[in-house]
Amino acid sequence: MQVMSGKEVSQAVYADLHARAGSFVHSHGYAPTLAVVLVGSDPASQSYVRSKKKACLSLGFGHQDYLLPEDASQEELLGLVRRLNADNSVHGILVQLPLPSHMDTGEVIETIDQHKDVDGFHPSSVGKLLIGLPTFVSCTPLGVMEMLDHYKIETAGKHVVIVGRSNIVGKPLAALLMQKGRDATVTVCHSRTKDLASIALQADILIAAIGSPRFIRSSMVKEGAVVIDVGINRVEDSSAKRGYRLVGDVDYDTVSPHCSFITPVPGGVGVMTIAMLMKNTLQAAISLADKDTK
Ligand SMILES: NC(=O)c1ccc[n+]([C@@H]2O[C@H](COP(=O)([O-])OP(=O)(O)OC[C@H]3O[C@@H](n4cnc5c(N)ncnc54)[C@H](OP(=O)(O)O)[C@@H]3O)[C@@H](O)[C@H]2O)c1
Repeated sequence: MQVMSGKEVSQAVYADLHARAGSFVHSHGYAPTLAVVLVGSDPASQSYVRSKKKACLSLGFGHQDYLLPEDASQEELLGLVRRLNADNSVHGILVQLPLPSHMDTGEVIETIDQHKDVDGFHPSSVGKLLIGLPTFVSCTPLGVMEMLDHYKIETAGKHVVIVGRSNIVGKPLAALLMQKGRDATVTVCHSRTKDLASIALQADILIAAIGSPRFIRSSMVKEGAVVIDVGINRVEDSSAKRGYRLVGDVDYDTVSPHCSFITPVPGGVGVMTIAMLMKNTLQAAISLADKDTK
């Protein structure tokens, strides 16, 4: 069994981005720049925003933070997004989710210029992904693909079972893996799936994106399968400094002895998401620069 290390893969991604960002700055005279919009003061969201800023700074990217109060109106947020769309010094726009309940998330995402949609959540980006056109892909699924590639895990002809059908993880992963070139046979399971355990047991590659601690047990995993755990769940742990620890959707201790490859939590897929956001931001800057010269 080999552990797939998000740390190792993300370090390789950052090294590549560092070199490519350097040559971008050299030839264009400005840095790829990400604008991050946060509405309210949710501590988890604040922490994600800080991590994104840190990643930008580590690569020499430009970074702009926009903080709106919890009671900001939809129009204020849309106005800010439109200003960022029109601002040539901004190449990627990310509105940190979840938004406060009085806001219409769909309208906000649709207002982001597709060319700056580095989260890959815009309906146009999702549609392009499904029909196999180049586009921004949401960062966590992209991170999973990067890990599969890094460890040279073949997907062609393999049965991939994805547990979870969210718009940000399960669905884009299914779209990526079924494309020509990837050629996997994909089954997507969800909370209404009957006999999920026996479907999971057929998987050559099993991907868990459920949000339920240690949901995948060893009896659901075929001997020699590749297991990718996207889940990040807090479970109480009085011996931990913070009173909790993070576990995945896979029962790692019992499942890992049966796998050929497995991602740990923490230190697996979770580490990849921001690296992929940086990759998308550089791609946005390159594409916008190309568009300007045409
Ligand atoms: N950076 C990262 O690594 C990253 C990024 C995003 C998410 N995550 C983690 O990944 C997990 C999933 O996130 P998400 O945003 O995709 O969650 P989500 O939107 O809540 O979707 C969860 C999916 O799991 C399915 N599901 C829930 N309980 C189930 C059950 N008992 N049996 C079968 N399917 C079940 C749901 O089915 P229905 O559709 O039928 O309700 C849904 O499709 C979470 O732990 C989250 O923290 C990690």
